[in-house]
Amino acid sequence: AVDGLLDRFGRTAHDLRVSVTEKCSLRCTYCMPEEGLPAIPRRDLLTAAEIGRLVGIAARDLGVREVRFTGGEPLMRADLADILAATRDAAPGLPMALTTNGIGLDKRLPALLEAGLGRVNVSLDTVDREHFARLTRRDRLPAVLAGIAAVREAGLDPVKVNAVLMRETLGDAAALLAWAVDAGVHLRFIEQMPLDADGVWSRESLVDAEELLAALGDRYELVPIGRDDPSAPAELWQVAGTPATVGIIASVTRSFCRDCDRTRLTAEGSVRSCLFGDDETPLAPLLRGGADDAAIATAWRTAMWGKQASHGMDRTTFQRPIRSMGAIGG
Ligand code: GTP
Ligand code: 5AD
Ligand code: SF4
Repeated sequence: AVDGLLDRFGRTAHDLRVSVTEKCSLRCTYCMPEEGLPAIPRRDLLTAAEIGRLVGIAARDLGVREVRFTGGEPLMRADLADILAATRDAAPGLPMALTTNGIGLDKRLPALLEAGLGRVNVSLDTVDREHFARLTRRDRLPAVLAGIAAVREAGLDPVKVNAVLMRETLGDAAALLAWAVDAGVHLRFIEQMPLDADGVWSRESLVDAEELLAALGDRYELVPIGRDDPSAPAELWQVAGTPATVGIIASVTRSFCRDCDRTRLTAEGSVRSCLFGDDETPLAPLLRGGADDAAIATAWRTAMWGKQASHGMDRTTFQRPIRSMGAIGG
């Protein structure tokens, strides 16, 4: 048995999320500032080979069972297929997934599948073109829809679509669900977390799961199902009269920190034990300084042992992390 990524609160991380870039083709207000994030100097970004090596260690020595590549927008890395291929070589059989905004995915998908990509989640908050352009500060809805269509056609199953709940698009939620039912994708709504670069999040103005259920209830009957497994962030509802389910990730009002099974690597190769808190443990100096796998595995275990109990959003002492979502890796 491997000596896994255990923390002081009895949780074990099996799910690895790797951010591969801070760059993005959109500027969603809940994630990025208008001007984009400060560029990470190229020499500081992990290379495809370095990512492969770290994921290999995670899979072999640390009990990680799945890796998901995120960003920023992972498709902004021209060598994303190389990253997947290097990961597959270093960690054969490890399921590989991608969370993307979908732009350009139609053209890139064949190479990514060839390199071993298994599952794709696409972020899409509204199917109203004008609202989309306002929220993301880019008029790219058609490109996103083309990306989703490509994943559907490739037969990847199940395709999940993530929608962050925002006041501006709450009125579009039922139409988005109708679109998802029709397109045959699994839609999940997500409560917005205080990870926007502009710092405008507030608990008072949050659109929460309850408000969403009320909004959808006008058009749909939803029957609660529960979670697929205890560490799954989404709670599911059957959309009555259709084959579809819809999920809600209520990170704020029904936090799932107690069952969290995630570990993260930033694009510069630091372990981040939690989305929140600013604790990061750089592995790049070890990786680039000739350390062996055992030393890197030990540093990773130590980093995870210090993981905080929860995001702590309900405490008055809550402090938002310095980095925004795009810089941590959704
Ligand atoms: P599946 O394996 O397909 O279920 O993917 P996933 O839900 O793990 O990944 P995805 O990238 O689609 O993430 C969906 C959303 O879950 C993100 O947008 C975040 O809002 C939320 N999320 C992901 N990781 C964490 C986490 O560690 N903590 C919290 N609180 N929320 C998270
Ligand atoms: N709160 C919740 N989810 C967010 N995402 C980005 N920023 C936030 C936020 N502040 C989501 C994206 C994507 C995933 C990687 O993270 O919409 O689906
Ligand atoms: Fe886990 Fe932190 Fe996410 Fe909570 S906020 S679910 S502790 S990673």
